Parts: sequence; structure tokens; C-alpha cells
Amino acid sequence: MIRINENYLKLQASYLFSDIAGRVSAFQQAHPDREIIKLGIGDVTRALPRACIKAFHRAADEMAEDSTFRGYGPEQGYPFLREKIVAHDFNARGADISPDEIFVSDGAKCDTGNIQEIFATDIKIAIPDPVYPVYVDTNVMAGRTGEFDNGRYKNILYMECTRENNFIPDLPSEPADLIYMCFPNNPTGTTITKDRLQTWVDFAHESKAIILYDAAYEAFIRDDSLPRSIYEVEGAREVAIEFRSFSKTAGFTGTRCAYTVVPKDCAGYDSNGEKHMLHSLWHRRHATKFNTVSYPIQRAAEAIYSEEGKAQVRELADYYLNNAKIIRKEMTAAGFECVGGDNSPYIWIYGKRDSWEFFDMLLQKAGVVCTPGAGFGKCGEGYIRISAFNSLENVQKAMENVKRET
Ligand code: MLT
Repeated sequence: MIRINENYLKLQASYLFSDIAGRVSAFQQAHPDREIIKLGIGDVTRALPRACIKAFHRAADEMAEDSTFRGYGPEQGYPFLREKIVAHDFNARGADISPDEIFVSDGAKCDTGNIQEIFATDIKIAIPDPVYPVYVDTNVMAGRTGEFDNGRYKNILYMECTRENNFIPDLPSEPADLIYMCFPNNPTGTTITKDRLQTWVDFAHESKAIILYDAAYEAFIRDDSLPRSIYEVEGAREVAIEFRSFSKTAGFTGTRCAYTVVPKDCAGYDSNGEKHMLHSLWHRRHATKFNTVSYPIQRAAEAIYSEEGKAQVRELADYYLNNAKIIRKEMTAAGFECVGGDNSPYIWIYGKRDSWEFFDMLLQKAGVVCTPGAGFGKCGEGYIRISAFNSLENVQKAMENVKRET
């Protein structure tokens, strides 16, 4: 009799975004004539930048000739892409990262979900609430938590993000080994200053902890004083792993390309207190379980860093930021308290009622799909998240509908 991993039984019935998709599809079937505008899951709607498409086509043509064909690529990704990443995303901003510290992958969701494998099961994890559900669920699957009770898993140190702390968690009051952070934040859209981030890096040094820093939304930062990478903060090389994605930056949600930075200075300890470098562990894991991203896609990603690509990518993010501005303005005018949306594609809205009730009301009355805050954690109750990833026309229409119906 084959036995299952019973940790899976602790999980909530379905992944948040699958749950929402199920509800929307049931509503659509019951009301086939109703138009639905999706501002729920953060999925991009605009075409890939021209520079990426051109590079993608060129690389596909190379695969058609024996002389230029490529088979398995280098484990960590092609050097042409890793060198561009380092030069533009890190060195140009004064962050000391080298190409052999970059691991190209097919998504920040996979990497933030998989990274926990290189750490012991009995460590203490600190996770913000509300939070991107992947961080929590993957730790549940790995057996790092207890049962789900009253909206929370036992044995997680939840870091509450509420309007009282401007949705930026306070430093943990108890020791923590692995700390999850995400800025610009998903789901609240808030950002963190360099000084504030420095306190977290210092805390990680003091407690020999590691910060997992998800910067998937950095392309939406327009306030130049804000850090785009944790490595812009002193001492972060020893205590932080960073995750980046081309999904939202350049519309790669269906194309798949991302990367993770594991500096060679980050260490963990075995049960005898002996030090081991996390880079070697992640390299071992990556080489064993992953075959990197296809050559044409890495060429398409590289094109983001050309002059043409940089301008197109900026224009893409500006387009969604303009949507975010409209959403925030209209929701505020409709009497709702909002945060986010200025350096982020997400707007976090206090709905003045149960968040699933607000979700149902928006869907049924206004035909607008949002994400209920409660799906991101206990502290998300009462809130909804609206995503700016859609066309301007749809965002305007959605806001008209909301104004009329609320
Ligand atoms: C979200 O809506 O939170 C994101 O799109 C989910 C993801 O990137 O996996």
C-alpha cells in the first residue's frame, strides 16, 4: 500500500487562484451573456515587446540549422543572458553580483516554492500576512508547519502587515531562520525604503537568518529612492537570496523566464554547526532537477536589456501603472481606502466587509473579478486586491461598473 505525503492533507482545498478561476467559470456558465473583466490574478494582457519577439524569431531560426542548433544549455543559463542581467539589474545600481551567482529559471513562483528544499525541516520560518500563498503552501507540503487552525498554520511565525504598520512588517519578536519578504509587495502593493530594508538585513546578520527576497515587481518602481534589489543594501550578500521574474517586467507570463540570485557569501549550517555555502546547495538542486529555459526564450529575455528593449519594457510597465493610478483614484473616489498602485501594479482596498462577500458582489453586480484579501492570509480579511494587468479600456469599463454598483 503506497503511502502519501500527509502534509498535503493539511493544505487548504485548492490554490487561491484556482479557486477564483472556478468561481468565475461557474458564474460565466450561469450568465453566458454577462461581460466579465478580470482584474484578479496578475496576468499580463499586452504583447511581448518587439525587441523580444525579434530575438525570439532569430533564435528559433538558429534552431532550424545544424550549424547553429543548440541542445541542452548551460545549467545556470546562457552566459549572454546572465552577463546582461548582472550589468543592468545589479552592477549599474551599485550592487555587487556576478554572473555565476545568477540561476536562470522558468519562474519566480517555482523558485520561491522550491528554494525551501535546501533548508532543514525543523527551522523557524517567518512569513508576512497577507502573503503570496506559494511561500506558505510549499512549506506546508515540506512538513515545516503544523495543522491549519483558525486561519493559520501552526509553527509559522506570521508577520502581520496591517494599516497600523503601513503594511510593512515589524522585525520578528522571536528568532527566525528563514524570512520571506516581497517588495513591491504582492498583494498590498507597498514598497520598502532602503533604510528600512537595512534593518532587516542587520537583523538577519544578528540571527544568522536568511532573507528570501521576492523582487518580481521591481520594474514598477518609479520612485528612484527606493531599492530595486536587496543587494543595494549593505551586508545583503551574506544573508539574502533574491528572486526576479520577466513575467510582469516584460510580459513573459506565458513565455516563462526568471532568475534567482544566490550570492556566494550566503551560508547555512549543518547539525554539527559546520558552515555550508547555499550557492553550492542550490546549484546541486538546480542541476539535478531543472534543465534551464529554452535557448530562444533566453535570447528573448536578453533583448530586454538592449536600448530598444529597455524603452519598450518601460513603456509596458508605464501602461499598467497608468491603469493602477486610475483604479486607485476611482476606488478612492468611491469611498474605499486604498494603498499601493504607485510603484506597483496592485491596489489593496479596504472593502468594509468580508472579502469573499466583496469579491462576489463585484463579480455579480459589476462583472469585475478581483482577488479576495482573505485568500492571502488572516490579515487580508476585509480587503480585496485589484490588479492593473488588463487593457486601459477594460480598466475604465470596470471602474465605471464599480462606481455604478457600489
Ligand atoms: C498574482 O496574481 O499574485 C500572481 O500573478 C501570481 C503569480 O505570479 O504566480
